[in-house]
Amino acid sequence: IHLEPSRTLMEFRLLPGLTTEQTLIHNISLRTPMAYQEEEDSKYYLNIPIVAAAMQSVSGVKMAIELAKLGGTAFIYCSQPIESQAEMIRQIKRYKAGFVPPETVSPDMLIRDLYELTRQRGYNTFPVVDEQKHLLGIITKNDYDVKPHGDLTVKERMIPRKELTVGVNIDNIKQANTLLRETHQSVLPIVDEQDRLLFLVFRKDIRNHLDNPHEILDEHKRYFASAAINTHDYMERVPALVEAGVDFLAIDSSDGHSVFQQKTLEWVREHYPHIPVMGGNIITEDGFDFLVEHGARAVKVGMGSGSICITQEQKGTGRGLATAIIKVAEARDRYFKKSGRYIPIVADGGIVNSKDIVIALALGADYVMMGRYFARMDESPTEKVTIHNRVMKPYWGEGSARAREWKEARYHQLIFVEGVEGFVQYAGKLRDNLPETLAKIKAAMSSVGAANIRELHEKAELEVVSALSIREGKAHDIYLPGSENDYTAIDW
Ligand code: XMP
Repeated sequence: IHLEPSRTLMEFRLLPGLTTEQTLIHNISLRTPMAYQEEEDSKYYLNIPIVAAAMQSVSGVKMAIELAKLGGTAFIYCSQPIESQAEMIRQIKRYKAGFVPPETVSPDMLIRDLYELTRQRGYNTFPVVDEQKHLLGIITKNDYDVKPHGDLTVKERMIPRKELTVGVNIDNIKQANTLLRETHQSVLPIVDEQDRLLFLVFRKDIRNHLDNPHEILDEHKRYFASAAINTHDYMERVPALVEAGVDFLAIDSSDGHSVFQQKTLEWVREHYPHIPVMGGNIITEDGFDFLVEHGARAVKVGMGSGSICITQEQKGTGRGLATAIIKVAEARDRYFKKSGRYIPIVADGGIVNSKDIVIALALGADYVMMGRYFARMDESPTEKVTIHNRVMKPYWGEGSARAREWKEARYHQLIFVEGVEGFVQYAGKLRDNLPETLAKIKAAMSSVGAANIRELHEKAELEVVSALSIREGKAHDIYLPGSENDYTAIDW
């Protein structure tokens, strides 16, 4: 029996250390190892210490591509058939930055129907092709008005092929940009030698794609792809994912300290030694030692602390995430001293904002996994809904009844659920949110006097704070119009 209570991230604060020239924000690096590699392989480094959870409502193809561009990775969820998960990995690998495989329309389509399609899809530019995919023209919302033109056909309003500048067989965004600059077009069609349409390159996207200094690529300059697996069908799932081009695997389980993970890790190590596997989740030093002994090259830490998790409530198993990180980081450091192998650890579940991220890193995590944070973004695979005049996105646990509609759900017992289903407030594009989060992490590291995450582990001094001290750290004794929180004191 441990009588010392376990701690959550919320209970810690960082003490400032000496800030120097080297630890000013623009000199701080957030680069961190993703997994242990026998031979140093630069593709297994994250440029930001943040990854997206393997969940149906978080990590699909869009999230994986956008996060890889920004320096992280999203784990494509395994609560789906093997073939559809492998197809998601293929889509990530096929994706060429800025080159959009377009949805086309036929020249005989009525403008009325095109208008309807535009509304459904939410985009306005459609290339027009014949049955052999030869480019016949382009039609955008500027080329028609549904009232006078509704009964006309697309070919009567489109900009015809002969008036368009196209790129032939270009696969380089810089070349596309050079061509596009000389036109008045908002979009450049890319065709093959037979004038069959391949891609569209949008003017509005180019800046975005030329400007991803932190992107994570594989050895063929394709976006890095990660996927979750389970301990039931790995003998079929892993080969399909590897064939599709996956770079990194994570075993998805709420309790990873099991012989089933051992078997999965050993099998992958034997058949695909070049693909690192993350084991987890565990919350004890024994759990870490066990997974590493059997081949885990990264270990995920946390049980029941996630925003949608009810594992602790349902089963009484779990540990405050801060204590779990502290204990497992000790095991990692011991193992490193003994073997020279540095196995990154990942804090997972209940990490809400930048403050939590930086505390998790300071306590010893090498990076963090988040679900709720990403579920709020445009790139998560769910539709927006309006509830009480607020725009929200649905978010549900992989152990919830909804996720379990998929037959091989991560939590097998069908008698009770381990997760809930709810909504999170819509936050917009990941690209518009992440910089603020990263800036706050860097600002904290700057205060501590740490130029990188290794130094943060070594230098960070943390203190447990009282509940009153947490209250003191918030805005207080001031009237905040529109705030739902009670920041008011009696005597002000
Ligand atoms: P956050 O707090 O970032 O947590 O939303 C995401 C993490 O929660 C875990 N997860 C679950 N845990 N029941 C659980 O007990 C569930 O249904 C469930 N679904 C996800 C998972 O580790 C994820 O990364």
